[in-house]
Amino acid sequence: MLWTALLLLGLAVLLLCARRTRRRNEPPLDKGMIPWLGHALEFGKDAAKFLTRMKQKHGDIFTVRAAGHYITVLLDSNCYDAVLSDVVSLDQSSYAQVLMKRIFSLELPNHNPESEKKRAEMHFQGSALTQLRSSMQNNLQHLLTPSEMGPKVSEWKKDGLFNFCYSLLFKTGYLTVSGAEKNNSAELEEIYEEFRRFDKLLPKLARTTENKEEKQIASSAREKLWKRLTPSHLDRKPERQSWLRNYVQHLQDEGVDAETQRRAMLLQLWVTQGNAGPTAFWLLGYLLTNPEALRTVREEIQGGKHLRPEEKQRKTPVFDSVLNETLRLTAAALITREVKQDKKICLSNGQEYLLRRGDRLCVFPFISPQMDPQIHQQPEMFQFDRFLNADGTEKKDFFKEGLRVKNPSVPWGTKDNLCPGRQFAISAIKELVFTILTRFDLELCDKNAKLPLVDPSRYGFGILQPDGDLEIRYRIRS
Ligand code: HEM
Repeated sequence: MLWTALLLLGLAVLLLCARRTRRRNEPPLDKGMIPWLGHALEFGKDAAKFLTRMKQKHGDIFTVRAAGHYITVLLDSNCYDAVLSDVVSLDQSSYAQVLMKRIFSLELPNHNPESEKKRAEMHFQGSALTQLRSSMQNNLQHLLTPSEMGPKVSEWKKDGLFNFCYSLLFKTGYLTVSGAEKNNSAELEEIYEEFRRFDKLLPKLARTTENKEEKQIASSAREKLWKRLTPSHLDRKPERQSWLRNYVQHLQDEGVDAETQRRAMLLQLWVTQGNAGPTAFWLLGYLLTNPEALRTVREEIQGGKHLRPEEKQRKTPVFDSVLNETLRLTAAALITREVKQDKKICLSNGQEYLLRRGDRLCVFPFISPQMDPQIHQQPEMFQFDRFLNADGTEKKDFFKEGLRVKNPSVPWGTKDNLCPGRQFAISAIKELVFTILTRFDLELCDKNAKLPLVDPSRYGFGILQPDGDLEIRYRIRS
């Protein structure tokens, strides 16, 4: 009886979904061939490939069906800021809550992204940033000492570049945001390894496509990390609170229970540590496979040797261009909002469209502006000087069909939702790359090796990760 009722209910939902038609002024509607599921499989398998195909078919705006949801995808980068600034019609927290539950097994009842971002800005920007940078530099130097790297630091060692960069930046970042004691390298390694086990499964958890075994691996990694990240393990130094301690304090003030506090720590760890390591990998990977770019960056570092340390952090237009180019090619977050009420939006060509209440809106800067061939010539190529003018200053002017493009790349999010940790992230990546290029001998095991391809399941989740690794050998210069 119950099964029949459920079956009938399911059929009714299917019929209702199938009946959707395009209304006047709505974007082109593409439901796909499969009822209810629509394009979900293709979207989940390789979002960049699927959305590029849809863009070629429909243009800069279209609505697709995926697993019962109708998702309007907007790819006109000149209107992202204006559209997303309407926080009344477009809600960012409900979909964020869905992902938090699926990935982190976390429910934060009073989650308010705006106030949280303000707290993060206070912590990671302005006068606090100077102290944070110096703590990050100390932590990185500590990780390069013989007690951490092994006594034979000047002998060649082999590793995958991805693992090498991710583990060093993760550990540096973890020590900096948690204020944890530096002297327990075995515990630090265990936290990194559990974090990676969890991080590898993140796209599957988000799409609920993990199998039984993967589910177990993810929950065991989560459990271990929750245990390690309990507030009692965090810093107790009174002089300055770490970010995680500050965040716990905020949860306690909000009356959040102890179990939820533990779980929220892992979310914060992923937000603060999930992107910088992979960025450093791609950046060094591009340099190692592009001799001219590597030589030019080395010359810039060499030329800045006489500068004071604080100036060295600032005047590096070649490195900045390399970083911007790396982020253009690998930053692939999908920005998602729930449409709370019908809303009219205007594209940059003046054409107006209606967004329907109950649908989702997605913006994917990776496809446009970042990989848009009308904005960036040969967009799939790494060109280290793409963001440099002929006089060596930063190039900011990019055009599409004669119109200046507001943002040629959007790795840190849109105007009202910029990553609060971006300056800190840039400092940490720069510090790591400069340290490696000045204090290490580091080379490809196979001189003709190419960068691995991208793991296509990571489109939508921040900085991309490789499908495989790039073998390197390294030693600290004596
Ligand atoms: C290359 C590295 C990084 C990239 C590309 C990146 C990018 C982003 C993006 C796109 C967002 C979402 C903005 C939105 O709400 O739409 C974000 C949020 C955030 N990022 Fe970053 N980020 C990076 C590194 C970092 C680092 C190192 C930190 C701190 C140490 C950090 C702290 C945060 C925080 C606190 C948020 C807010 C999350 C929330 O909404 O609760 N990020 N980041």
